[in-house]
Amino acid sequence: MVLVSPRTASQGLRSSFRPYAVQNPFIQRPGTPLSRRWLATSAAEQPRLRLGSVGPAPNFKAKTTHGDIDFHQFIGDKWAILFSHPADFTPVCTTELGAFAKMKHEFEKRNVKMIGLSANDLSSHGSWIKDINEISNTNLQFPIIADANRKVAFLYDMIDQQDLENIDEKGIAFTIRSVFVIDPQKKIRLTMMYPASTGRNTTEVLRVIDSLQTGDVKGVTTPIDWVPGDDVIVPPSVNTADAKRKFGDIREVKPYLRFTNVGE
Ligand code: BEZ
Repeated sequence: MVLVSPRTASQGLRSSFRPYAVQNPFIQRPGTPLSRRWLATSAAEQPRLRLGSVGPAPNFKAKTTHGDIDFHQFIGDKWAILFSHPADFTPVCTTELGAFAKMKHEFEKRNVKMIGLSANDLSSHGSWIKDINEISNTNLQFPIIADANRKVAFLYDMIDQQDLENIDEKGIAFTIRSVFVIDPQKKIRLTMMYPASTGRNTTEVLRVIDSLQTGDVKGVTTPIDWVPGDDVIVPPSVNTADAKRKFGDIREVKPYLRFTNVGE
């Protein structure tokens, strides 16, 4: 994998901007295992993958089950979910990938490209996908990144601290279960982090994508447990008179808690 600077000079760099590999010197300290380089790198030098940060989601080039990719080119003008797995042929990961594979049409409907990552190489991914398809009676069609050396896992901070400090005999930390939702501007819009012991929930991943996309299009926020069709919240930045003009009916529970409905 080759790391790519997240911005080019023509994109109006902040004066403090430095290419990603310079910002993160663990990447540039060859000779020691990546995990140890990471541990030797101060917290201030490690990635800051903040929601909505002005810098885009870090780019990278990687080998996947669908060939070599440049991550930003892969996303193109769509949304993307990048989700990671600790290892091939492990039970929880196998159930998760089968479930994600079955949701392909739901993600497509929302204009979202799916890409998985697992910390093994391509030959192992290939035979694991056959197992996943057999077990879940599906046909997994999205690419899975081969991240045996954890380069993408470190770049996206998909590492458990305890595992990092108890590095296995190969000097490599396990990858955790992260989900990154990235928008067409390559902004990280949502992250979820689960430990290796807990499988994710595909319905929740779809629900948060629905919330983000509804918020972008309609200019609203969504309450606890919201699903499409439920009432949404008028943001505090919109006064009630403007909200009535924009949305029609407003249900005011408190001056700061006003609901409306924007349909599915
Ligand atoms: C699993 O997918 O079952 C798993 C992977 C790594 C550690 C523990 C569990």
